[in-house]
Amino acid sequence: MTRESIESIRAEVEALKCRTQKEIEEARVRLLGKKGEITALFEEFRTIDKEMKKEFGKTLNELKTIAQTKIEEMKSLVGIEDGGESSKEDLTMPGEPARLGSRHPVSIVRQQIVDIFRKFGYDVAEGPEIEDDYHVFEALNFPPNHPARDMQDTFFVSAGHLNPILLRTHTSSVQVRSMETMPLPIRVICPGRVFRNEAISARAHCIFHQVEGLYIDENVTFADLKQAILLFAREMFGPQAQIRMRPSYFPFTEPSSEVDVSCNICGGKGCNICKGTGWLEIMGCGMVDPNVLKASGIDPEKYSGFAFGMGLERIAMLKWQVNDLRHYFENDLRFLEEFASAPEI
Ligand code: PHE
Repeated sequence: MTRESIESIRAEVEALKCRTQKEIEEARVRLLGKKGEITALFEEFRTIDKEMKKEFGKTLNELKTIAQTKIEEMKSLVGIEDGGESSKEDLTMPGEPARLGSRHPVSIVRQQIVDIFRKFGYDVAEGPEIEDDYHVFEALNFPPNHPARDMQDTFFVSAGHLNPILLRTHTSSVQVRSMETMPLPIRVICPGRVFRNEAISARAHCIFHQVEGLYIDENVTFADLKQAILLFAREMFGPQAQIRMRPSYFPFTEPSSEVDVSCNICGGKGCNICKGTGWLEIMGCGMVDPNVLKASGIDPEKYSGFAFGMGLERIAMLKWQVNDLRHYFENDLRFLEEFASAPEI
């Protein structure tokens, strides 16, 4: 017995790599079996003199422990279910990197908007995409046969009775549900998918996404609305952003307004994105019509509120200058991968 012979077996044990249970068993027999190399060293150990025993006892025991541990370790790693028949992957190889998807541009924009309004103290509310006429129109001050219903071409699921079922044309329906159920004051934003019966083109689609918001409390004024939207625009488009409001009409708000934000491409000087005007339209808004408050059981003498709504694809188009709406729905990987490294805009 020599130090070298022990060292060389130890090196062999340390370098041991087995792919199957069968190989492990073979290694075990070769090293620790009745006629194994390590067993043989122990046999020899019995016959050597006292001085040598002192020298080799400890290293020999160590070698045995190392070999036993290594074999046990390999057994648990290589998997036993195959009974040692099929060969397994080399577990010491580096793993294959998991390919992560990236977030869709519409999700990125929605998350940004939600984060901004969360900071302002708004809750997020969601509601059904298949809605009834009452929540999409009636409670929002669109009486039956009101011409404003034509503003939103509706997909009906079942028509022909008093409260038809339809695909919601805006997420204002979620605001109605919030007014029905939430305690006052109410501050919610409602992100979601909406549907309108439009021919698909670069500028229109039958499915798109909105975030609408609602704030109801005592003494809420148009000045509050303007300030909330200005703060939002600055968070979203940068501190230099300006807004302007143009009078408009929605049945559920009075007064109503469209909001434009200063063009972030040309800084307001006029370019082809803003068609030379220096302004980009981003949302509709207004003071909640007293009829809408009344319909949901809120006293319009005591409470007032504002609402606003914007299209997410529209905001994404402005952010990234992707000027064909269809890209957002086709899920072409070449398009989606453009956003792989865009958690921030
Ligand atoms: N619901 C409107 C739409 O879908 C947007 C809007 C919401 C306008 C709230 C005013 C107030 O076009």
